[in-house]
Amino acid sequence: MGFIDVIAKKRDGYALSREDIDEFVYGVSAANIPDYQVSALLMAIVIRGMSDRETGWLTDAMVRSGDRVDLSDVPGTKVGKHSTGGVGDKVSIVLAPIVAACGVVLPKLSGRGLGHTGGTLDKLEAIPGFRVNLSVDEFIRMLTDVGTSIVGQTVSLAPADKKLYALRDVTATVPSLPLIAASVMSKKLAEGSDALVLDVKCGHGAFMKSETDARDLARLMVSIGSRAGLRTEAFITDMDAPLGRAVGNALEVIECIETLKGHGPDDITALVVALASRILVVSGRYARPDAEPAVRRALASGRALEKMRAMIEWQGGDAGVLDDYARLPRAARRHAIAAGADGYVAALQADLVGRASMAVGAGRQRIEDRIDHSAGVVIAKKPGESVRAGETILELLYNDDRGLGEASALASSAIRISAEPPVLRPLLLGTVA
Ligand code: URA
Repeated sequence: MGFIDVIAKKRDGYALSREDIDEFVYGVSAANIPDYQVSALLMAIVIRGMSDRETGWLTDAMVRSGDRVDLSDVPGTKVGKHSTGGVGDKVSIVLAPIVAACGVVLPKLSGRGLGHTGGTLDKLEAIPGFRVNLSVDEFIRMLTDVGTSIVGQTVSLAPADKKLYALRDVTATVPSLPLIAASVMSKKLAEGSDALVLDVKCGHGAFMKSETDARDLARLMVSIGSRAGLRTEAFITDMDAPLGRAVGNALEVIECIETLKGHGPDDITALVVALASRILVVSGRYARPDAEPAVRRALASGRALEKMRAMIEWQGGDAGVLDDYARLPRAARRHAIAAGADGYVAALQADLVGRASMAVGAGRQRIEDRIDHSAGVVIAKKPGESVRAGETILELLYNDDRGLGEASALASSAIRISAEPPVLRPLLLGTVA
């Protein structure tokens, strides 16, 4: 059957066979299916969907498109963590050293910012000298020495995902449960961990806008992982408003360090503690009642901060940033967005704040764009907090004022003020195991 017939089959709502899916993924990796045909099939999948069986086959074919990291030489249980992406989501950078300080190995392949969402690699690269492109060999050595390492996806792991993601990004085919699940899980299965804890984001700043979709995505990823022999659990967490008070690379690094010193914002600290505790339990090393106290001790004793120091040093970065934030890039200019009335911050729409941060230079419009690590948005007032007319709610930090007009408009439109205190939904919305 020619590839046009595979596209037509999905267009007409039929299930693809395992052979169809293998042909598709092999053709993407070998670059012998033209982009327009790949895009046509992706759009047919977005519109017609895929069964769980088809999604499992797609994931498996994407894993087989490249290598799998062999972590068997690293002692102990290895637990992965992945977030489906949000605004101000710096959790991995805080969580990795905490988990390692508790004696559980956390290997982490991370991505760059995409659209309005930030990327862990871009944040870490705000630290002068920090290298995210370690070889697989260095990654394994660092996991043995330090207990954690956060690196970029190498070209040899799930290469089909890399190509498919780049096409999806420019053909409006990102928001699809089976495509997101296969994309995330192919990378996580190739990463070589023994277990995985997922943070599935839900709300304005996430790919999944509704709780129902987020729950369905979580269930799908948990079932793909479990069927492939990777113990997988998922948290569903709110992403209506940005996490923490900093959006933008160097600003978020400072917030991570503050959290490791015990002075982080409540939402970041709560999410990090919940996810890290679950990772300790899933590793099999900690009983449920012991996990959270262990995480809190790692923070309070400074051991997690020292792990962060070891991590930065191993990856060639300037660990002096932990004690002196002036060593991080700093924006020269600031612009305040003030409240128009007395009241309460009822909403701070995460995608708009993320786009405002991009507009001042903290993110990319295109994959090849250079980012300004010092730029971003500081959140002076979070949802639920009271404000007086004229008080600053958001502050834009920038060097180049070309995007300032757009950023101000986006930031202003992200804010909703109410006369009464708003009822906010909890940060942790549920779990799927
Ligand atoms: N993150 C991924 O890795 N892939 C997707 O498709 C969406 C979010």
